[in-house]
Amino acid sequence: MKKIIVGNWKLNLDHLQGIQLLQKINYSLDKDIEEKIDIVLAPSHTSLRSLQTVISTDNLKIKISSQDVSSQNDGAFTGEVSAFQLKKLNIDYSIIGHSERRSLFNENNKIVEEKFRCLESNNIMQVLCIGESLEEMESGKTLDVLNEQIASVLKNKTLKKALIAYEPIWAIGTGKTPTPIQVNQINQYIKDVVQSTTANNYLPKVLYGGSVNSENAAAFFSCENIDGALVGGASLDGKHFAEIVNEFNRIK
Ligand code: 13P
Repeated sequence: MKKIIVGNWKLNLDHLQGIQLLQKINYSLDKDIEEKIDIVLAPSHTSLRSLQTVISTDNLKIKISSQDVSSQNDGAFTGEVSAFQLKKLNIDYSIIGHSERRSLFNENNKIVEEKFRCLESNNIMQVLCIGESLEEMESGKTLDVLNEQIASVLKNKTLKKALIAYEPIWAIGTGKTPTPIQVNQINQYIKDVVQSTTANNYLPKVLYGGSVNSENAAAFFSCENIDGALVGGASLDGKHFAEIVNEFNRIK
């Protein structure tokens, strides 16, 4: 089964810097990468078009994701970008429900569910982020939180495509991570819940995100239930990000 590695650039880089980083990543990748791994980059909206043009002109084996999408399809929603507009740019993926959107922009599960549906109707792969806070983890609520985040978005849906990214909030940008064994168990739990929650018993790929780097990547990637990674800070360095992808490629 093909693995997926997503680089989330967050609010960094203009479109020219984005092109440079894309080219640096591409240059540093193992040559046989595409048989085993889908590489996806999520720049700011302002870079989507430029990166997509470089990828199609140079025939690069890299895909582009939006970092977010509107929960509305069209109309008087100043500042929003719709799934339909993304599709017109040949964008294949969109992150939704990232903890930074949930905590800084008050996005609740209902909004995330609406975004999920907008992407579905435009045939864009959802990268649905879920994860518990430090407080929730310390009070033993991790599985309840994940259950609620999954059920409120996916309950009774018939899924065709959708990825889940397990990102414990306390591991994002902190240098702290759960152990690979813990992530492996939680990802198994997520797969079970998604299967029992969806109308068609959909078995998703589940990525891990939170302080992934080239030193810890191999340990995560050798776990059975970790189907890839969502990488933040380390994806802003082309060589470093390519090393993470190459680590994955070299796992037997
Ligand atoms: P870091 O890799 O910087 O911890 O960020 C993870 C993340 O939020 C990816 O979406």
